[in-house]
Amino acid sequence: MMVPFLDLRVTDVSEREELLQAVNGVLSHGRIVLGPEVELLEEQVARECDRRYAVGVNSGSDALILSLRSLALPPGSEIITTPLSFIATANAIRLNGLVPVFADIGDDLNLDPESIAGLITPRTKAIMVVHWAGKLCAMDAIATIAKERGLIVIEDASQAYGASMGERKAGGFGLLGCFSMNSMKVLASLGEAGMVVTDDLELRDRLIALRYNGLVNREECHYVSHNGRLDTIQAAMLLVRLRRFASVIDARRNNASFYREHLKERVICPEETPGFRDVFYAYTIRSDRRDDLKRYLENRGIETKIQHPFLMPQHPAYRGSPGRYPNAERLVRMVLSLPVHEKLTFDQRHRVVDAVQGFFAA
Ligand SMILES: Cc1ncc(COP(=O)(O)O)c(C=O)c1O
Repeated sequence: MMVPFLDLRVTDVSEREELLQAVNGVLSHGRIVLGPEVELLEEQVARECDRRYAVGVNSGSDALILSLRSLALPPGSEIITTPLSFIATANAIRLNGLVPVFADIGDDLNLDPESIAGLITPRTKAIMVVHWAGKLCAMDAIATIAKERGLIVIEDASQAYGASMGERKAGGFGLLGCFSMNSMKVLASLGEAGMVVTDDLELRDRLIALRYNGLVNREECHYVSHNGRLDTIQAAMLLVRLRRFASVIDARRNNASFYREHLKERVICPEETPGFRDVFYAYTIRSDRRDDLKRYLENRGIETKIQHPFLMPQHPAYRGSPGRYPNAERLVRMVLSLPVHEKLTFDQRHRVVDAVQGFFAA
């Protein structure tokens, strides 16, 4: 029997029933495009992130693309970001005619605030943080740099819905906070979905226009954009998923504690900073013998992932991009993500632990 990295089936009978009812509700009222569930979800997400506004969009990619577009930065402006992210982060920058500048990461795999200052130039306009694997970046230090140097902070919180530092939640730090709610994320739709949060009314209004072809009303286009609206059926199902969200995170955190307890002598395990609450989108261990370990686990039916085999600036489309990230170049060869999803059974997580221990004992 496999231990799958993810299990996207809806196996809980009551959840399935609630999801079907939610879809049924939309089929009955018929307001299919930007129906009332979109607004309800926006209100709830804004409240949970302690922001004034939330704008539902089609994906995390669109959340990033439209957020940057809403800022209307001069072409060629530089955006400092992490080298370790899904490529959508860098693509959103480049698609807006902006230049990603890659800073380094710390051992927590998040943007290292100390690596930012040396990369700031007169063209730098913003810092795009990514809360990697469900752990918040060191937002106090990053906010201080941003304030001192007059830079905007944008959060790619795609992997970190619900992660917190004290009372403050992911999406609650930047001028704009962006979420993916695709089916693999901790807060997961059953398809594609995303959200932008902000306290800025002007940006909110612009985002509402940008998510539908730049139209400010039915007739008038003020900005060049595309269709990036959040689907009503996905919003309806996300409202169900939000009601169950606390138990999803509890299960993931439980799995993470179990791994830490049993694996910390063998591999480098993720560490939760005091005062932080990580949501474990991924459980990323580090080992010098990563590739052998991955193969060993695979041969025992345990699916793992390297997130990611390349840093963003190592992709062919990004070669030659500015930046400096020696620690990231070292860490990317060591990272391996174990299954940590909420459906992992007691038996499955024991199998993971036994197999990792077996590898090192052998
Ligand atoms: C950090 C990060 N940014 C952006 C995205 C893009 O989100 P989406 O797949 O919803 O477009 C993802 C997820 O895939 C992600 O993990």
